[in-house]
Amino acid sequence: MTDGDNLRARRERAVTDEVLASFSDAESPRLKELMAALVEHLHAFAREVRLTETEWDLAINYLTEAGQISTDRRQEFILLSDVLGLSMLTVGINAPAVHGATESTVFGPFFMQGSPQIERGGNIAEGVKGQPCYIHGVVRDVDGAPVPSARIEVWEADDDGFYDVQYEGDKVQGRGHLFSGPDGEYDFWCVLPAPYPIPHDGPVGRLLAASNRSPMRPAHVHFMVTAPGYSSLITHIFVEGSDHLDGDAVFGVKPSLIIEFKERVGFPAPGAHVDGPWVEAEFDIVLSRSGESSR
Ligand code: BEZ
Ligand code: FE
Repeated sequence: MTDGDNLRARRERAVTDEVLASFSDAESPRLKELMAALVEHLHAFAREVRLTETEWDLAINYLTEAGQISTDRRQEFILLSDVLGLSMLTVGINAPAVHGATESTVFGPFFMQGSPQIERGGNIAEGVKGQPCYIHGVVRDVDGAPVPSARIEVWEADDDGFYDVQYEGDKVQGRGHLFSGPDGEYDFWCVLPAPYPIPHDGPVGRLLAASNRSPMRPAHVHFMVTAPGYSSLITHIFVEGSDHLDGDAVFGVKPSLIIEFKERVGFPAPGAHVDGPWVEAEFDIVLSRSGESSR
C-alpha cells in the first residue's frame, strides 16, 4: 500500500466512524442497531465498488423517479425490493419455520384493504375475463385439526394479466375474502390465472431490461389467511406447468406452492352455472400457532 492509499483508507474510515457515532444516542435500541448496520454496510458497498459521483447522482435520480411514479395504486419501491430479492429474503427471515406449515411467499403491491366478503362457494371474479376456476380446500393447524372461521383473502390478475387497481376507475374485481367453515373448509370461484409481467414501464422495468431480466411472473393466485391464535400466512398458489415457474421476476416460487389446476369438461360445477370447461384446484392451508417459530 502506498502512503496515498493509506491516507485514503483512513479518510474513508473516519467518515464511516463519524456517521456511526452520530446515531449512537438514538433512543430506540432497535433504531440504533438498524442504523449502525445500515451505515456500515452501505459505506462498505461504496468503498468496495469505488462508487463514482456520477453513479451516486444516477442512483439519487433513480430513487427520485421511483418516488415520483408511486401513487396509492402504484408502488415502485415494493417492486424494487421484489426484484432485488429483498422482499423474499424478509419473508424467509420472518416466516415461522414450522414443519408442515404452508410456506409463505412475497406479498406484492396489489393487495387492497376492504375487499368484498363473499359467501362460501361465491365468485371473486364476476365479469372478469378468463376461464372459470374453482379453488377449495381445508384450513388446518400443523397437527391436522381444522381451523374454523379463518379469514381468507384472495386476489388475482385477470386473463390479460392486470389487477383491478391497474385499470382506470374504481372497479373492484378479482379480489374478495371469505371465512372457513366449521370443519375448516373453504371454496370459491375465480378465473384461471395467467402469467403476467410486473409493472415494467418505470425505473424497475428499466433496471430489468438493462440486466437482461424478464419482468414475467408465473400464473398464481394470492392468499392471506388469518385466524386468532395463529401466525398470519401470506402466500400464493402457482399453476403447475405455467410458464416462468423457473424464472419468476420476484423470486416467489416455492415447489410446495405449485398446485395442479385440473381441467374439467362435462363435470357439474359445484354451486355455479358454468357452460364450458372449467378448472379445479385443491389447496389445503396449514397454519402454525402464533409464537411457534421452529418445530
Ligand atoms: C404480484 O404478484 O401481484 C406482484 C408481486 C411482486 C411484484 C409485482 C406484482
Ligand atoms: Fe400477483
